[in-house]
Order: sequence, then structure tokens, then C-alpha cells
Amino acid sequence: MSAKVVELDNLKKTYLVGFMRKPVEGARGISFDVREGEIVGLIGPNGAGKTTTIKCLLGLCAPTAGAARIRGIDAHEPRARERVGFLPENPYVYPYLTPREFVDLCGRLSGMNASARSARIPRVLERTGIAWAADRPVHRLSKGMLQRTGLAAALVGEPDLLVLDEPMSGLDPLGRREVRDIIFEERAAGRTVLFSSHVLSDVEALCDRVVILRGGEVVVSGAVNDLVHRGATITELTLRNVDAKSREGLLEQSRLLREMGSDLVLEVEGEEVLAAVIARALGAGATLVSAVPRKDNLEDLFVRAALRTGEEARPD
Ligand SMILES: Nc1ncnc2c1ncn2[C@@H]1O[C@H](COP(=O)(O)OP(=O)(O)O)[C@@H](O)[C@H]1O
Ligand SMILES: [Mg+2]
Repeated sequence: MSAKVVELDNLKKTYLVGFMRKPVEGARGISFDVREGEIVGLIGPNGAGKTTTIKCLLGLCAPTAGAARIRGIDAHEPRARERVGFLPENPYVYPYLTPREFVDLCGRLSGMNASARSARIPRVLERTGIAWAADRPVHRLSKGMLQRTGLAAALVGEPDLLVLDEPMSGLDPLGRREVRDIIFEERAAGRTVLFSSHVLSDVEALCDRVVILRGGEVVVSGAVNDLVHRGATITELTLRNVDAKSREGLLEQSRLLREMGSDLVLEVEGEEVLAAVIARALGAGATLVSAVPRKDNLEDLFVRAALRTGEEARPD
């Protein structure tokens, strides 16, 4: 198995907020690894702890307990970040610089000499789609253009690990697509990528592995293929003329998707449960209108993980 590039080991972070120093839990014991050459997606609704995890990993905030390491080096040591490109959630770009000047500054800070910078900078500006506006002052750029400038700055030093906090936010569909392509190209060039998103489809399309966070905890993690196909026997069942008494019984074994007139549309998980639900409905005199198997996607997984914790999912 390839080497661990990122390691989070029972990471806990409690923020103390306000004058009364009220504790707010940002991370409650998060553990996962990212291995060489992988693309790992950190997903979860707002407030799940994605940014907290990323900040601890980059040494931007100190964990309350547990540890974060990059290539075995503790995150608080600056040398852990030597080969890391980082795109923060809200990239701060000095307002009086142009994207070209800002990216040049970042290249200088990461130790590139003048000739390396002059060869590399036009290429990253081109690749992140900001070359056409590279000489405008940053304060005149849109959110999406700032996002692209931040991404160019993260890429300029040719890092081996890219850590991107919500890289698609603020971008239009074409921009999202371009960022997705950049992430793929980086991986093809042998780099390791950890990125966060609350948009499930971006993650599903891109990642080798996902870590789903909720309330500062890991609720599900694993290879996207395994997770998506695990127990993939979800069936959408439409039943007609179900009486009130058997309806109640059926809902103990399934999830109500919608009701249309005398039709009841249920989501049933697992083959045995499906057989039991159908037998029960038919036994009570209902009619089976349709049973459509559905491929489980990350969204389903996410919703079910949230339902298991007894809360309503808020993927947005
Ligand atoms: N600097 C901070 N001070 C106090 N609480 C914070 C701070 N940053 C994050 N939190 C809290 O920690 C939790 C996790 O937040 P965050 O890591 O930003 O989540 P996400 O990036 O998944 O949206 C939230 O409840 C948030 O309010
Ligand atoms: Mg965040």
C-alpha cells in the first residue's frame, strides 16, 4: 500500500467563543488517512468540521487533542507544509495586487527563483482560466475569478499535496468542470489531493475515497465505489390502495418518498425487506404498480447516514 501523505489521528478541536468562552466543538475525534496519489473528498453540510480539519492539518489552528501529520511530520512544524499547495475557503488576495502579482508573490514565498517563476506563472494563470484578467487589480474581480486566482496560487509551487477547501464554490458550471479537470490532471501528474465540498456530485465524480463528516465526526468513509455499491439494492416501490393500517406497518420497513392520490411511493433497502414489504402490501389487498431498482449514489448514502443520527440532512 502506498505511503500515508496525510494522517488525522483522533483530531479534536473545541473553540471557545465570546466573553463567556462558550465551548463550540469543531471536531470531535476525526481520524482518516490520505495516501500517495489519491484524491480524497471531505464532505458534509455546513458546520460539519471540514474547514476545522483542514486548518488543523495546515497548522493554522492548534488541535485541542489528537494529531494531524503530513508525511509523518506534525502539522505545527512549518516543514510539514513545504510541499503543500493550499486553497483556503475564502482566499484572501491583497486587493491592490493583480492576479499575476499575487501568484508571483506566492511563488516567491514558496522559494521559486525568478526564472522558474517566469516559466511557471503564465502556465498556471492559463490553466486556471484567469490569464485574460491577470493584470486587473484584484478588488475588481468576481468571486469566481478570485477563486481561480487562489487556485493558481496553490498550484504555482508545483506542490505534491494539494489541499483545497471548497474549490468549486463561487464557480459557474463551466468553472466547476475546469476545476474538476485540474484536480484530475494533478492526480495524473502523481500528486495527492484532499479537498472539501458540500456538493455531493462534485465529490462523487472526482474522488477515490470520501470521508463524510457531520457534527465534527466521521459518519462514513471509504472508497466511492464500495460505498456506492454497498447494499446497492434500493428499490422504489409504488403501491396502490394501501389501507391506513397496513400503511403504518409498511412505513416501519421503508421510507415514504411521496404520495400521489391512492399511490404510495416507498424506498425500500435490501432484497429481504423488499420481499416482506411486497408480501405485506399484497396480503392487505393493495396493488403493486411498479418496483424500480435504483443505484445508490452518494446523496442516498449521505441522507441515510444523517437519518441514522436522527437528524434531517442538510447537504447545503
Ligand atoms: N473560529 C471559530 N470560532 C468558533 N467556532 C468556530 C470557528 N470556526 C468554526 N467554528 C464552529 O465549528 C464548527 C465546524 O465549522 P467548520 O469547520 O467551519 O465547518 P465546515 O467547514 O464543514 O462548514 C461549526 O459549528 C462552527 O460554527
Ligand atoms: Mg468550511
